[in-house]
Amino acid sequence: MIKKCLFPVAGYGTRFLPATKSMPKEMLPVVNKPLVQYGVEEAIEAGMATCAMVTGRGKRAIADHFDINYELEHQIQGTGKEVYLESIRNVLDKGTFTMVRQREMRGLGHAILTGESLIGNEPFGVVLSDDLCINPGGDGVLAQMVALYRQFRCSIVAIQEVPADEVHKYGVIAGEPMKEGLYRVESMVEKPNKEEAPSNLAIIGRYILTPDIFDILRETDAGANGEIQLTDALMKQAQSGCVMAYKFKGRRFDCGSVPGFVEATNYVFENIYGA
Ligand code: UTP
Repeated sequence: MIKKCLFPVAGYGTRFLPATKSMPKEMLPVVNKPLVQYGVEEAIEAGMATCAMVTGRGKRAIADHFDINYELEHQIQGTGKEVYLESIRNVLDKGTFTMVRQREMRGLGHAILTGESLIGNEPFGVVLSDDLCINPGGDGVLAQMVALYRQFRCSIVAIQEVPADEVHKYGVIAGEPMKEGLYRVESMVEKPNKEEAPSNLAIIGRYILTPDIFDILRETDAGANGEIQLTDALMKQAQSGCVMAYKFKGRRFDCGSVPGFVEATNYVFENIYGA
């Protein structure tokens, strides 16, 4: 039903400097797999086999990762090492990868608008691959959101409860509870301080968006630090139509920060790697 997923991967990843000086943040491995591959696997599992990447300068390694490396394939063909390529071969068999470049890093909203040419006029998923989401033994977060989209046919944001002293890092929603873990969004604030936050329900890096978001983004002025905020556009969409917020099942690691990345690495090594 939703066939395409957008991956904004153009950001600078300054919190990981110097590692990200010449290497994309999205290629940092959690154990032995780059962050972006976890996101792509989640999208494919949810039925979104077309992965549309919004890249930028210095991000070539991402395009190369989702392509065949003939020399390597030839070198290890027929050896015991082929097993190490299994997961990426599987992704390449199932997925199609399209790319567009964001020339100026003008924020997440601008990155999504840049992806319009790859998406067209249909609902689509969005994965911020520095949020690693894992739901062992159950559906991935995007698959859970697709099931909800079937019912509500509107934009959906994934949310998580966070401690009050962390709300300033996120977009935060206020919403009318519809049923267990599901809210109809009434307002949204980007990076509020503790006193202004309407709740402790923070938006994380998984979305399903209806394509009218592109027109709204086109009309959205740059907000704080000259960036076009997706939160501002979603707020307009919530006011004129409907946006749902969904408290997903599973765990999420903030791999855009060093502590979250280390936590994810330990978790994956202990619970998933080699299992
Ligand atoms: P972040 O806020 O995490 O920024 O962007 P960043 O540049 O990746 O990392 P820091 O804060 O400098 O360490 C959230 C997501 O939006 C993408 C990023 O790649 C990331 O997936 N993004 C952000 C873009 O694609 N383009 C932009 O202009 C901004």
